[in-house]
Amino acid sequence: MPHLDDRLKAVARQLRSEVHVDIGSDHGHLLKALLAAGRIRRGIAIENKRQPFENSRHTLAGVNAEVRFADGLEGVQHGEANSLSICGMGAESILNILQAFPSRVPPLVVLQPNRCPEVLRAWGLRNGFHLCDEQLVYGHWPYPILRFEQAQDARDPAYEGLGREAALLWGPHLIRRWEPEFVARLREEKRYWSDFKRLGPDNAQRLQLLHQILSGVQQ
Ligand SMILES: C[S@@+](CC[C@H](N)C(=O)[O-])C[C@H]1O[C@@H](n2cnc3c(N)ncnc32)[C@H](O)[C@@H]1O
Repeated sequence: MPHLDDRLKAVARQLRSEVHVDIGSDHGHLLKALLAAGRIRRGIAIENKRQPFENSRHTLAGVNAEVRFADGLEGVQHGEANSLSICGMGAESILNILQAFPSRVPPLVVLQPNRCPEVLRAWGLRNGFHLCDEQLVYGHWPYPILRFEQAQDARDPAYEGLGREAALLWGPHLIRRWEPEFVARLREEKRYWSDFKRLGPDNAQRLQLLHQILSGVQQ
């Protein structure tokens, strides 16, 4: 069994489906672990670089998985997979992959951007994918892990009753759960921006939103 770090273990716990595609599979460990745990029946690994492609082939030899050399969703047919993961990349790269072939995005999507998860929360809202869960895994830095499910209803209930801008920036589920580590990070960010004599409009707005969401708790 390949070793999964806490980040990929948290991704694996969000997945259960028949056919799963992992884009940017690299070492191939996520698919191997999902298959071994019986969380998926078949895996498709997609890589666009030669060495990671070979690494995935090596890891996944002899299990129910196929490794394809392709650029993102170019390597998957419409309706071929029930779920998708894209982990360990920048949010913009993940967004580009999702937007290149929107009709090929399966109904269950787990994304782990290295930073800027707001870009992907906004993708979910624009494209009818509800944000059903979100976790932060504390490793080298806090890794966001977002689970989306395709929905008919355009309104995502995760955002109901919350300020839209703050929820997009920091995550509706994380704000609702209000866990100590998360609150500590918000306070730290508020201190950081407060130290600046002058802020551009975006960061000034961010600081104002931080004041608002932190104003309900002891500081
Ligand atoms: C930093 S690694 C992350 C590996 C693994 N997903 C993880 O989280 O541990 C990113 C991998 O994505 C692959 N990659 C980046 N863009 C890709 C694309 N458009 N299509 C397929 N693979 C891609 C890279 O070659 C690299 O192996």
